[in-house]
Amino acid sequence: MTEVTAETDPTLEAIADKTKLALRRLAKSVMIITARQDGVNYAMAATAVDALSMEPPSVLACVNQNASIHPVLLKAERFAINILSRAHEDLSHHCGGRVKGEARFEIGSWDHDGEVPVLADAQAAILCRSDAHFEYGTHSIFVGKVEDVRTHGVIDPLVYIDGRYTGVNALMMG
Ligand SMILES: Cc1cc2nc3c(=O)[nH]c(=O)nc-3n(C[C@H](O)[C@H](O)[C@H](O)COP(=O)(O)O)c2cc1C
Repeated sequence: MTEVTAETDPTLEAIADKTKLALRRLAKSVMIITARQDGVNYAMAATAVDALSMEPPSVLACVNQNASIHPVLLKAERFAINILSRAHEDLSHHCGGRVKGEARFEIGSWDHDGEVPVLADAQAAILCRSDAHFEYGTHSIFVGKVEDVRTHGVIDPLVYIDGRYTGVNALMMG
């Protein structure tokens, strides 16, 4: 039986288009998910990352199964969520597909001392133990149990909305 997808079902395609329109209005902080496997560092820009629970403290990240970090996350014991500041827009482009592989770490203040690379001047870096993962459609949802957190600087996150980068101006006005 042919699988029903947006390509084979015009109704689904229309709903996908409308969903994209709705999600363009969902303001999201930009993050970089990092992990390391066999001494090789991986980084991916992501907005589909969120709080999951405080009992236990945990976060979730939705990662496309085609992303180069995906097979790494399937095996990784640990990963980090680095929340970007407004000054990190270049890093988001870099880790969002413009640059490939470990060259993604050529810009930015990366701390490579721990088990996973951490962005030293990230708004916050959430260090997680990988605790569960589920497949859904094109993506996998990774659950990270929080082990440690670092914060840096004043609150000034890089925000992605309507396909563009911005900041939270209300915060800057005090
Ligand atoms: C602002 C922004 C947000 C993104 N959010 C996600 C996301 O939440 N999940 C995801 O799988 N890909 C997301 N991407 C796309 C990945 O960063 C991109 O597909 C990935 O870096 C591809 O690189 P690869 O060569 O490592 O496979 C986002 C990209 C950008 C620029």
